[in-house]
Amino acid sequence: MKHFLDINKTSPAELRQMIDQAGVMKTARGNRPKGMMDDDQPLAGHMVALIFEKPSTRTRVSFDVGVRQMGGQSMVLSGTDLQLGHGETIADTARVLSRYVDLIMLRTFEEDVLLEMADHASVPVINGLTNRTHPCQIMADVMTFEEHRGPIKGKKIVWTGDGNNVCSSFIHAAGQFGFDLTFTGPEPLDPEPGFIAEARAKGANIEIIRDPAQAVEGADLVVADTWVSMHDSQSTKERRHNQLRGYQVDDALMARARPGALFMHCLPAHREDEVTSAVMDGSQSVIFDEAENRLHAQKAILRWCLGV
Ligand code: CP
Repeated sequence: MKHFLDINKTSPAELRQMIDQAGVMKTARGNRPKGMMDDDQPLAGHMVALIFEKPSTRTRVSFDVGVRQMGGQSMVLSGTDLQLGHGETIADTARVLSRYVDLIMLRTFEEDVLLEMADHASVPVINGLTNRTHPCQIMADVMTFEEHRGPIKGKKIVWTGDGNNVCSSFIHAAGQFGFDLTFTGPEPLDPEPGFIAEARAKGANIEIIRDPAQAVEGADLVVADTWVSMHDSQSTKERRHNQLRGYQVDDALMARARPGALFMHCLPAHREDEVTSAVMDGSQSVIFDEAENRLHAQKAILRWCLGV
């Protein structure tokens, strides 16, 4: 069973194969209309369940479109519509869904829910985001970086702000793809120490530097993300903004990075909070390429999971 649960749980060779296949499929599509199917139809006859217990624009639409472009069919389900939200166990839901569909993509809160779904499903399960990680996003980000700047191995990536679930998947990727990652943010919002230790053990240079201006020196890529994630209580908003205000990515910070450094944000963004509009809409920003590449990267992940 090939589940795609996290970047650190998938081998570097398999991750590389998916990134490369995503690029081949993107090129093959060229500029054809978005609703037109691919020449290859590897998902023909396959039914995919896309389950969302949290809101989503990119993940929801890109998975749905990707399945259809490859000839498959998808159904988008909300957690509250399923018995999942009314007391049926995750294990029973996994067993039942496995009788109907060929693959389950799940966006949920607690990682344990995802893991229980994967443990009891007899079809592949893809992590569409949990409170802890967001691997599909980082596959798209690696693909985007390499489209613009070539191999990511050995490059310096700087994560600014909250050491959240997206940051965790970036740290996983540093270990698997062999790039350096510097985290700059306030100590209470540091990334998980276990993830840092694991990436370091794989040879990645992971640093924590509190001063953002110092952290971005030599950066090939600067990344920002929302200061209040979907799983964070809104009651923490004011405290988080106070902690993170000094980590906003603006033109002055980007000017301290390597000339030609890229800027990424997984979106949705809060303009003028974690990043200025000048940076988001500036020449170094590749945020909409990132969003597009969710589609291509996830198509490769779907094919890998299904072995087609
Ligand atoms: N970046 C991301 O996962 O976007 P959505 O929450 O809109 O899916």
